[in-house]
Amino acid sequence: MTDWDTLAAEVRTCTRCPELAATRTQVVVGARPEGARLLVVGEAPGAQEDESGLPFVGRSGQLLDRLLAEVGGDRARTAVLNTLKCRPPGNRPPTRPETANCRPWTAQQVALVAPDVVVTLGLSATRWFLPGKEPLGTVRGRVHEVEGVQVLPTYHPSAALRNGPQGEPMALLREDLALAVRLTS
Ligand code: URA
Repeated sequence: MTDWDTLAAEVRTCTRCPELAATRTQVVVGARPEGARLLVVGEAPGAQEDESGLPFVGRSGQLLDRLLAEVGGDRARTAVLNTLKCRPPGNRPPTRPETANCRPWTAQQVALVAPDVVVTLGLSATRWFLPGKEPLGTVRGRVHEVEGVQVLPTYHPSAALRNGPQGEPMALLREDLALAVRLTS
């Protein structure tokens, strides 16, 4: 298996999705602090991630950092990446071919991080690991073993932001992150 830095260098020059390669500022490879046992996976970079080159630095990322800290986790010890490494123009949802093109990169990243638990944020990241039709509400909050990887689906921070501080997604996202932190401590 290749190492993280070699893989990252390859991903940064990827042109498998012509539209994304033409419109992105840069590829957002993901972050993998040494020794991370928790991996958080989102959908695709937004404008701020595209600008900075780092995953989850915008409003969703700030909420993720805050909730992780509240439940005893630490973003600095958490690997974070997206199933798609380039920002879709206007933040449109990734297309099926785009997701398929990026899949080998993500699969190698998951194998290299080899986390105790993968938290998938939102339906898109969840489907990457758990294909099928089950709604997020029925699979979230418990661990699913997928080809030897422990996957814990939960809400995307953007859903928690949309529904507000008293909304159910916020409470359940916090609860699920707490479970993930317990499983990796
Ligand atoms: N939303 C995502 O799914 N990923 C990011 O990196 C930022 C926002």
